[in-house]
Amino acid sequence: MIKALGYVFIESSTPEKWQHFMEQVVGLMAAPSMLASENQYFKMDAYTWRIAIKPSNRDCLSIAGWEVETQSHFEQVKKQLSANAIIFRHLTEEECLARAIQGGIQFDDPSGNTLEIFYQMALDYLPLISKVGVREFDTGFNGDMGLGHFVIPTQQFDETYDFYLNVLGFGQTDTMRFQFAPEAPEQRLHFLHVNNPRHHSLAIYEDPNPSPSKCVHLMVEVPDMDDVGYFIDRCKAHDIRISSTLGKHTNDLMTSVYVDTPAGFALEFGTGGLQLDWDGYKPTESARPSLWGHEWNPQ
Ligand SMILES: [Fe+2]
Repeated sequence: MIKALGYVFIESSTPEKWQHFMEQVVGLMAAPSMLASENQYFKMDAYTWRIAIKPSNRDCLSIAGWEVETQSHFEQVKKQLSANAIIFRHLTEEECLARAIQGGIQFDDPSGNTLEIFYQMALDYLPLISKVGVREFDTGFNGDMGLGHFVIPTQQFDETYDFYLNVLGFGQTDTMRFQFAPEAPEQRLHFLHVNNPRHHSLAIYEDPNPSPSKCVHLMVEVPDMDDVGYFIDRCKAHDIRISSTLGKHTNDLMTSVYVDTPAGFALEFGTGGLQLDWDGYKPTESARPSLWGHEWNPQ
């Protein structure tokens, strides 16, 4: 029922750093159709906006906005939440206006991450005019694959996984298990899809430590390997630390790099992510994260 990852809000104590990072490094565009507010809205495709930076005294991915296709799907999600005794609140008219959406609700997942379910964000159809020449981001037809994916770190792994799978109806795509040392406890990383071909729109990571940024990484995708190369050059030119070298993942075949963002989590910038037809799909278990590359540079 959930169609795509529609938007994210990032709270930031250094919003000017985000503006620079978004426009000069990632290549997004200040959203021209959004009303003036204290938030900065960035556009990547036909959608009016995709990523908002909210000035704050903390640095984290504070809200994930998940899109449903129709108002009737929206009503079904609300029924499903009520049936599972999940308390939610409707977004006010003002909040909907500040998101360019028709309607939405807000609630927390079992790990305390705030999410919203919404329907119909306005599309302004304006072309992406990237200051650094990114031609487009890969988000499907009129943005129907969503803005990308992100990874939730959690110590309440089982409850959180169960919530996304069985309450919100996400689909299981792939699972991984990590052991960083022979005697270290196992950590799980599960990949989930929604109703679009993107291999995963969400992953859930069993993090032994609390993570103030509430996110392991956020991923955006470009159609061309050259755009990844240009991105790496821009990171070097602007002194953005590359936290993982170029590599290709096993499960979604994404060729990507990871870099630091001003919020403490990473941005994955990649190309070539697998797109799947979920009809008859059998979930997989991957024994390793990457085919080649992705060498982590500890801070
Ligand atoms: Fe990723």
